[in-house]
Amino acid sequence: MNKNAIGIFDSGIGGTSIWKEIQKLLPNENTIYFGDSKNAPYGEKSSKEILNLSIKNTELLISKGCKLIIVACNTATTNAIDYLRKNYDIPFIGIEPAIKPAALYSKTGSIGVLATKGTLTSKLFEQTAQEYTQNYKIIEQEGEGLVSLIENGKLNSDEIKDLLNLYLKPMISYNIDCLVLGCTHYPYLIPQIKEILGNSIKIIDSGEAVAKQTNAILESRNLKNDSLEDGTHTFYINTKAEVLSKILENTSASISIQEIEF
Ligand code: DGL
Repeated sequence: MNKNAIGIFDSGIGGTSIWKEIQKLLPNENTIYFGDSKNAPYGEKSSKEILNLSIKNTELLISKGCKLIIVACNTATTNAIDYLRKNYDIPFIGIEPAIKPAALYSKTGSIGVLATKGTLTSKLFEQTAQEYTQNYKIIEQEGEGLVSLIENGKLNSDEIKDLLNLYLKPMISYNIDCLVLGCTHYPYLIPQIKEILGNSIKIIDSGEAVAKQTNAILESRNLKNDSLEDGTHTFYINTKAEVLSKILENTSASISIQEIEF
């Protein structure tokens, strides 16, 4: 029995899409979330910068006593998780574009991947993608500009629609039958994406798989919180909390949101 919190970080508010899955599957776990919105988007930074920010975020969560850390950001995972696992003595769960489930699903053999530049140019992504390129056509697309618009609360803006049209329409002509969302901010765009791709192209994201993996690691390390009470959830953000509050407004969980200088 371990009541310490699960730590979760992202470059901003996108990792809340992962937090929602964690809270659904493990309602009695306490969580501490850090959104580094001040430094978003990570996807446009160098690998070294992404690593340094990931180290800083990890140390913040460790200083708050977290028993496990979820790197709820594809860009940070693909650039930093090996380092974090080697250098800190707690378990880390990462998130990567779900190419394997997409390959299992695809009948046309053509898979779309929408992710940040930082993810698509990482060694880890390249290795994963290479395993599949013999049998599948992988259409990679950088989602440049999307994270900043989401961070600024412009989810339903024409700017978002225009960028999505620009990025996704060409994928239809490649005959993709599934689109992998390789960034934790993008699940918030699913309604807009469906308007462009229709219902016959499956949208795949990794949130549920991350929650299941977290549960498995907590169990195998004997770290689960066996309390029967619902967990409490603290969200730290280093910009104004307005957009984060909006994105969490429908949750019934017990949350507190704090703006911090960090
Ligand atoms: N949520 C991050 C991800 O999954 C966004 C990265 C960024 O800030 O560009 O990749």
